[in-house]
Amino acid sequence: MTSPVKPHLLLVDDTPENIDLLVEMLGPDYELSVATDGASALEATEDQIPDLILLDIMMPGMDGYETLKHLKENLEWAAIPVIFLTAKNQNEDLLLGFQLGAVDFITKPFNLAELQARIRTHIDLALAMRVIEKQKIELEAVNGQLAVANNEQKELLHVLCHDLVNPLGSINSFAKLMQTDPDTVAMGLELIEGSSQQGLDIIDLIRRMRAMEEYEVELTSWKVAEVIENSLKQLKLKLEAKKQEVKLSLEPGLEVLAEPSSLVHSVLNNLLTNAIKFSYPQQTIEVRGVKKGEQVRLEIEDHGIGIPPTLLANLFQINKKTSRLGTGKEEGTGFGMPLVEKFMRLYGGEIEVESTSIEENQDHHGTVMRLIFQAG
Ligand SMILES: Nc1ncnc2c1ncn2[C@@H]1O[C@H](COP(=O)(O)OP(=O)(O)OP(=O)(O)O)[C@@H](O)[C@H]1O
Ligand SMILES: [Mg+2]
Repeated sequence: MTSPVKPHLLLVDDTPENIDLLVEMLGPDYELSVATDGASALEATEDQIPDLILLDIMMPGMDGYETLKHLKENLEWAAIPVIFLTAKNQNEDLLLGFQLGAVDFITKPFNLAELQARIRTHIDLALAMRVIEKQKIELEAVNGQLAVANNEQKELLHVLCHDLVNPLGSINSFAKLMQTDPDTVAMGLELIEGSSQQGLDIIDLIRRMRAMEEYEVELTSWKVAEVIENSLKQLKLKLEAKKQEVKLSLEPGLEVLAEPSSLVHSVLNNLLTNAIKFSYPQQTIEVRGVKKGEQVRLEIEDHGIGIPPTLLANLFQINKKTSRLGTGKEEGTGFGMPLVEKFMRLYGGEIEVESTSIEENQDHHGTVMRLIFQAG
C-alpha cells in the first residue's frame, strides 16, 4: 500500500548534525519538515499533520516523552505514528516510550536500510488503519440499514399474524356453527365469504409491501386527470351512498412520475376513500392540482371529522393503531396511510397532512392531504 504523493515526515532532533544526516538519507523519498525542540514540533504539526514523526528523546525544554504526551492528547494527532530516536538502547526508555504510545524505536547511529524499512512499515500500517476505520464506518452504516430492513420485515410479520387472527377465527367459528345448526348455513356462508375476502386483502397488502421493498419500480409519466377519473369511477357507489360530491380543480396538462397501479389502487383510492369515510353525508370533497417548478402538488381536502394530533403523529406507523369507524360506521384496517407514504417515497415524492379535528374546532374542521410528486 503506497500513497501516490510522497509521505510527509516531521524530523525532531536538537542536534543539527543528526538533522542534516536524516535529511540527506530521507530527502529523496519523503517530503520533510524539521523541528529542533518539542514546542516547535507541536507548532509544525499544527501547521501540517505529518504522516509520521521521528522524535528525539533527549532535548532541552520539552523532551520527547512530553512532546509525545501532547501529541496523544490531541484527537486529530493521536493516530500519527511516532518513532523515537534514541542514542542508548536502555530498557526503561523503551518501556516508557511504548507506554506513552510510540510505535517503534530507532537507535543512533542510523542505518539507512533499517531507517527506511521501519518508516515504511509504520506509514503503511497507519494507512491500513485509516482504511479499516473507513470500512468500519461504512459497515456500521450498512448494519444500520439492515436493522431497518429487519424491522420492516418484523412489522409485516406482525401485521400478518395479528390481523389474520380475526378473519380466520370467524371462519372457524361459523364453520362449526353451521355443522351443528343447519339454519345458520345461509348466513354463515355469507359471513365466511366476507371473512375470507378480508384475509385475502391482508395477504395482498403484505405482498405489495414486500414487493415494494424488494424491487425497483419503474416510474413513468401519468396524466393526473386520468388517474383521478379512474379512481373516482371505482368510488362512485361510495360517493352516492353518502350523497357526497367531488369538486375537481386541476391545472390543464398536469403529469406526475409514478407507478400507475399503486397510484390508483393504493394512493388515490385510499385518500379519497378516507375523505368519503370521514366526511359527513352531502359534504363536498375538493381535489386541487397545481404545478410548482419541477413538482406537482395534488391536494385532497375534506371537511369531515379531522384527525386529532395524537393520531396524526402515528398516521404513517404501521404498528400503531389509528383506525376509527367512518361517519357511516365504515370499517378499515389502518394500513392505508403507511402504504400511501411508502409509495410516495418510492415515487421520489412525499405526503404532507394538515388536519383540524372536530374536537379541536367545531366550526372549521377537516383534512388536507397534500401529495408532492416529481412532475412527469
Ligand atoms: N381524511 C381523514 N379524515 C379523518 N381521519 C382520517 C382521514 N384519513 C385518515 N384518517 C384517520 O387515520 C386512520 C388511518 O387511515 P388509513 O387509511 O391508514 O386506515 P383506514 O382508513 O382506517 O383503513 P383502510 O385504509 O385499510 O380502509 C383512519 O382510520 C382515521 O382514523
Ligand atoms: Mg384508509
